Amino acid sequence: MPFVDYMARCLAEYYGNLSAIGQAGDFVTAPELGPYFADALAHAIAPHLAAFPVMVELGAGTGQLAFDLLKKWDAMDCLPETYFIQETSPSLREIQAKKLRSLPEPLRKKVSWQKPDAIQGILLANELFDALPVERFIQTESGKKRLGVAWQKDRFVEVILEESIDFNPPGIVFENVYRSEFCPGLGDFLDQIGSVFKSGKAFVIDYGYERQDYYAAHRSNGTLQAYSEHCEVSPFEKPGCVDLTAHVDFTTLAELMMARGWQIDFLKPQNQFLLEQKLLERYPLTAEHYALKRLLDPRLMGEVFKVMGASKS
Ligand SMILES: C[S@@+](CC[C@H](N)C(=O)[O-])C[C@H]1O[C@@H](n2cnc3c(N)ncnc32)[C@H](O)[C@@H]1O
Repeated sequence: MPFVDYMARCLAEYYGNLSAIGQAGDFVTAPELGPYFADALAHAIAPHLAAFPVMVELGAGTGQLAFDLLKKWDAMDCLPETYFIQETSPSLREIQAKKLRSLPEPLRKKVSWQKPDAIQGILLANELFDALPVERFIQTESGKKRLGVAWQKDRFVEVILEESIDFNPPGIVFENVYRSEFCPGLGDFLDQIGSVFKSGKAFVIDYGYERQDYYAAHRSNGTLQAYSEHCEVSPFEKPGCVDLTAHVDFTTLAELMMARGWQIDFLKPQNQFLLEQKLLERYPLTAEHYALKRLLDPRLMGEVFKVMGASKS
């Protein structure tokens, strides 16, 4: 089967049953590393809430970010009217509901898992786009071929399918033999979520690169990764039980958003974004603040994670 179908099935199974994110799970995300990330985002988003009073968070994980944002905005006296969560995983929806039930009633009542309708709002997605299925390909002497997955000798293995693949990102020349990936469902995904925004702002945070860097010659095996209990494992082992993920091509994401009426306001490394929100004035960096260092350190999450801001009017 094509790799993209294998990944879609694995992810549906994996996220559908996921019971933990953080130390007890397979990977840690920024909201699970303490109050820092939510604090900076709350400050970045707050000035826009009067004009765009509806929040839409995509793929809310354990609900930690929603929880921390609502508490922070309550303290800042700028709560949104409604905080919509769009989440495909039944098990994570339950975890989110449990977590958010512990908010004070006026905050709890703002949270909804319904689909919003024609809003002026703010779209927020942290580590969502890296969790969409990707098509894998290989550049060979006879062109670009689709990569697939086959069951051989009691295990799944990567196979080169006969089919050629039509993927020619502008300005990129692939050498032989080069493997990588792209996200074929990205445009449709943006259509689904973006169409409800009459106007708004978007904050997309994820690990990834601009196109030239994404398809740089040295990244000749692409960016696909699989994680289990915080260790990198084979994407073909334990299908549906490990996290499969690929970095985000921010150039393509920006182009597809622009084609749908969004204007890109900025794309910057996470550490720059966090520092601009004066995070270190509220949480001075000390030896104990390992989590804060992890968010800022360019060798850890500081640079490979990017924050993209966009507007739709
Ligand atoms: C890597 S986790 C990130 C969770 C959370 N944003 C965080 O930072 O901790 C990816 C999240 O996206 C959700 N997800 C995956 N595909 C999705 C889709 N197509 N629509 C909405 N949520 C999705 C997963 O269930 C999960 O909540």
